[in-house]
Amino acid sequence: MSWNQLTVDVPDDLVDAVVGELSGDAVAGVWENESPQSGYTRLVLYFGSRSNLEQIQRHIRTVFSRSGRQDPRISKTVVEECDWNEEWKKSYTSFPVGDDFFVIPSWENPVVPHDRLPIRIDPGQAFGTGTHETTQLMIEALERWVEPDQLILDVGTGSGFLAIASRLLGAKKVVACDLDPVAAQVAYANIERNGQNGIWTFCGSLDAVNKDTFQLAMGNLTADLVVDLFPEFDRVLKRHGLAILSGILLDQADEIRGIIARFHFTIYEELTRGEWLALICEKHVA
Ligand SMILES: C[S@@+](CC[C@H](N)C(=O)[O-])C[C@H]1O[C@@H](n2cnc3c(N)ncnc32)[C@H](O)[C@@H]1O
Repeated sequence: MSWNQLTVDVPDDLVDAVVGELSGDAVAGVWENESPQSGYTRLVLYFGSRSNLEQIQRHIRTVFSRSGRQDPRISKTVVEECDWNEEWKKSYTSFPVGDDFFVIPSWENPVVPHDRLPIRIDPGQAFGTGTHETTQLMIEALERWVEPDQLILDVGTGSGFLAIASRLLGAKKVVACDLDPVAAQVAYANIERNGQNGIWTFCGSLDAVNKDTFQLAMGNLTADLVVDLFPEFDRVLKRHGLAILSGILLDQADEIRGIIARFHFTIYEELTRGEWLALICEKHVA
């Protein structure tokens, strides 16, 4: 199997924006390397062989033009499938996340700090290693808002990381879904790896879920997806249910606050890290 590889040097302050912009383009892998230019990061991006490269390049250029930068030089090549797990193993090692967790790659066996809960992860080709700021904001929010009797929906579960964390925080049951079949399989394997029997996984999205079901529904997605999917978050949440939404760039916050207000949700908290924002809001029913 072959992959399209795009390489582009990105000003350090635009790295998150470029990666965020591409998450709707089914980016299969992102490597951040040192760029020869100081203040820049060399992003190496992998896409499936049938991806629309013209559209992807347009999305990258949009981020540059939005911040008043000149069009970047983007180089293209086709590479053969590599062993993603072997590549990950070179750079991914155990680390603490949030106040409560300790993330352990499946191939390591470190001593777990006594005050932290281990999450064993093999990310494979799914998003959700716990290293990204958007995932860390979700963890921070879950640590504050998960309660023992909750039925929780994790939309876009990726590696299953947040679903596993929710159960470890005491949620009664978690339903984890992802549109990407590879992610759904990776999530299932990670959930088994962590011995969690209270999590159901499926390949699909919110439309497969009954209305008025969950006390908490979360999605670490993109701002566009949050706007598109918000009516569905509203539908599946119970009265007074909480939505926890991440993957939103700070300059997209007003658009998200707008849709939240239109559905008469109340924003309880806004958490930020780097360029990223996560919101916690509550559903009200008249
Ligand atoms: C940024 S990753 C988040 C992974 C993980 N939850 C985390 O926070 O680390 C977003 C995931 O959402 C999935 N996704 C995108 N659109 C979706 C949709 N409409 N319904 C369900 N999953 C979706 C993608 O396949 C991807 O795995």
